[in-house]
Amino acid sequence: MAGQRAFSLAAYAVQLANPTDFDGWRDAARRLITNEVKPEDIEWHVGGDATELPAPTPGVELRVSREFIDRAAIVACHSNGERFALLYRLLWRQRSEPHLFRIASDPDVRRFEAMEKAVRRDEHNMHAFVRFRKIGDGDGERFVAWFEPDHFILELAAPFFVRRFTGMHWAILTPHGSAQWDREKLAFGPAASKEDAPASDQSEEMWRTYFANIFNPARLKVKAMQSEMPKKYWRNLPEASLIPGLIAGADQAAREMIARMPTMPAPHHQAIQAKHWPAAEAAAETEAQSIDALRQQASQCRRCALWSEATQTVFGEGPDDAELVFVGEQPGDQEDLQGRPFVGPAGKIFDAVIGEAGIDRSSVYVTNAVKHFKFEPRGKRRIHSKPNAGEVQACRWWLVKELKLLKPKLVVALGATAAQSLLEAPVAITRQRGQAITRDDGLAVFLTIHPSYILRIRDPQQAAAERARFAEDIRTVRQMMAG
Ligand code: URA
Repeated sequence: MAGQRAFSLAAYAVQLANPTDFDGWRDAARRLITNEVKPEDIEWHVGGDATELPAPTPGVELRVSREFIDRAAIVACHSNGERFALLYRLLWRQRSEPHLFRIASDPDVRRFEAMEKAVRRDEHNMHAFVRFRKIGDGDGERFVAWFEPDHFILELAAPFFVRRFTGMHWAILTPHGSAQWDREKLAFGPAASKEDAPASDQSEEMWRTYFANIFNPARLKVKAMQSEMPKKYWRNLPEASLIPGLIAGADQAAREMIARMPTMPAPHHQAIQAKHWPAAEAAAETEAQSIDALRQQASQCRRCALWSEATQTVFGEGPDDAELVFVGEQPGDQEDLQGRPFVGPAGKIFDAVIGEAGIDRSSVYVTNAVKHFKFEPRGKRRIHSKPNAGEVQACRWWLVKELKLLKPKLVVALGATAAQSLLEAPVAITRQRGQAITRDDGLAVFLTIHPSYILRIRDPQQAAAERARFAEDIRTVRQMMAG
């Protein structure tokens, strides 16, 4: 701008189009350096009109490594007003100091590296701490997030959200600009303010439950936790309101957690089971006429070796005339102790998701492909161990009988083990989920994931996305039942 030039001592004032106009910087730098314009003779500004710069000197080649350009593009996203001048100075110096970047103590190199690191950290934080809030429903469903980065990283960070949330319409609003994805293209728009984004939605509670569940009071390290989830982000995180309470209650929570730890079955349970062994053989001979009678028979099942370590058979439960049946893999620690399917952590997700879809758990029949808990003892704990094909096949005996008595309209296979047992063939759940397969006997089997899969995902964003997909599958089930 003319005014700025009048007061400036520098020979050139470069006006870049926006704070991350790295292409503009490259073009100006090429023109200036090939005309031997020294770093101290240039001022770098963002916005305003372009000033006239000399054309690049023909025949003068600028040698610069690809690595420097790639790293400089990251540093250009830093919010420090000196960044473009620093980049030019480093470009200038590398001509006479080709090994400049090997001098770790050089002040320019140190600043460059610190800025690069800060931008990368900010990008990482954005990936980790953006929280979308849902607005609208059906076709109008949109997800909007407000985020305040330290640097100009929106364009750098946005492709990650495209990959992670490809199927959602979303917008991320920041004080520097906004990004929008309409499931086809990514567009960048003007800066926004916090009030433009919704403050909360119904998924907040889900975030809080998730966080409270993965929070392990016995491993609490407040400093490490705060550096992982810096305080400045707390105000936009639904789960952050829990943190002070969780920290304060950590001792008590740790004690309760230890008390809740899975216990080994009572030492005498094997003796009790052994006592029923002859009865089991005899009972299996007669065809049960009701689910209760079948449950009674299964309580003494010895069709595979799993009975010997488990506390008890965990048979299916629900009305005899249920039209909808859910089949899981096998009982877990809690189920084994309580003798009921899906009452542990996976059961909590299951209950919540079917409830949200308008399915009343008491109206459906819930069972497992394998009816004894298979585990590996590890200290005091019992770690879930996947049933093998022989165990699944042995237990199919009971599942076939359950379905024969129930005659449901639809069976939902929760995960690959259930699908394999129901279809008698290996099933790739990730590829085939969300659809129903009709068996030769006319029974429709709907395929979806096992809810424990969601619990195993450590990244909250990804877990939330998986939970949303699971909920979508269950809504489809609900529609199929209504149709
Ligand atoms: N996982 C299952 O597959 N079934 C249960 O009952 C509990 C956890």
